[in-house]
Amino acid sequence: MTDSVTLVEMAPRDGLQNEASQVPTAVKIELIERLAHSGLTHIEAASFVSPKWVPQMADGQAVLAGIKRQPQVIYSVLTPNLQGLKAALAAGADQVAVFTAASESFCQHNINASIATSLARFAPLLALAKEQNIPVRGYVSTVLDCPYEGAITPAAAARVASALHQMGCCEISLGDTLGTGTPRRVLALLNAVSQEVPLAQLAVHFHDTYGQALANIYVALEQGIRIIDSSVAGLGGCPYAPGASGNVATEEVVYLLQGLGMLTSVSLDELVLTGRWISQQLGRRNGSKVGLAWTK
Ligand code: HMG
Ligand code: MG
Repeated sequence: MTDSVTLVEMAPRDGLQNEASQVPTAVKIELIERLAHSGLTHIEAASFVSPKWVPQMADGQAVLAGIKRQPQVIYSVLTPNLQGLKAALAAGADQVAVFTAASESFCQHNINASIATSLARFAPLLALAKEQNIPVRGYVSTVLDCPYEGAITPAAAARVASALHQMGCCEISLGDTLGTGTPRRVLALLNAVSQEVPLAQLAVHFHDTYGQALANIYVALEQGIRIIDSSVAGLGGCPYAPGASGNVATEEVVYLLQGLGMLTSVSLDELVLTGRWISQQLGRRNGSKVGLAWTK
């Protein structure tokens, strides 16, 4: 395998959105600055969603205002609707992300809308973002399994990915929200989705509940995927996906990619220190095996 890989860092958003006690804004800001300092070039910094739905993300505006920005880093945020995009623009986000799902019931639980309604909501958002030159990423959650419906077919995931792509999303991130996927199913998923969306515009987003994320990432790399979502210290989880654990740890992904010669720009030393620091701040056991083992 050749080519370099882009990592999209999830810890400040997916990583923190499910924390029970409010994480201070200053800690979020320091986390983002440390992640940028480690050499990561794309950081999902916050969500501009309803604070009633996800109270932990209510301080997105203050987070974006507080960070010292690095010119080489893209700071993106989640936006479920036009209201979120307008807030994101006011806060100076470089990129935004819309999110829907391959399963109707997860979509309903997560954003109180059917898949079709969610896509209709994204149309005016995409139009304004285009006018403002803001790229829009699209997430498809529950591409393999849904907490309410069970297994999801690759064709269902491909349909939604295709719709987002046709609407103008620059990149589609395929979310194994529950972290139940295994490589053969990932292969079937990628085969179906890549008929609809060019591989270069696909990202993978694996939660690691069953410890399969790295195996799934390896399969995705073999298929030509070059954009991977991950979260330092393995933080993460969706409030509307009961039973799901954190994202694959960025430390694990960096260790794998460096071993494959596919990533040179990230300092694993810095990343490991950041993972240990944020775990301590949250009073959590570090969810990264590399973070626990690293001795340099
Ligand atoms: P709703 O209640 O149907 O919305 O929620 P509404 O339009 O009727 O508005 C209700 C209230 O929310 C109003 O306030 C709006 O102003 C406010 P009120 O009049 O009651 O005071 N509101 C907003 N406030 C701030 N920012 C906004 C916004 N929009 C409305 N953008 C809505 C619909 C989509 C807003 C809600 O369901 C929501 O915010 N859901 C977000 C859920 C979420 O963030 N989930 C986690 C992220 S997704 C994820 O983690 C998966 C991913 O990681 C991939 C994977 O792992 O699969 C991406
Ligand atoms: Mg997620």
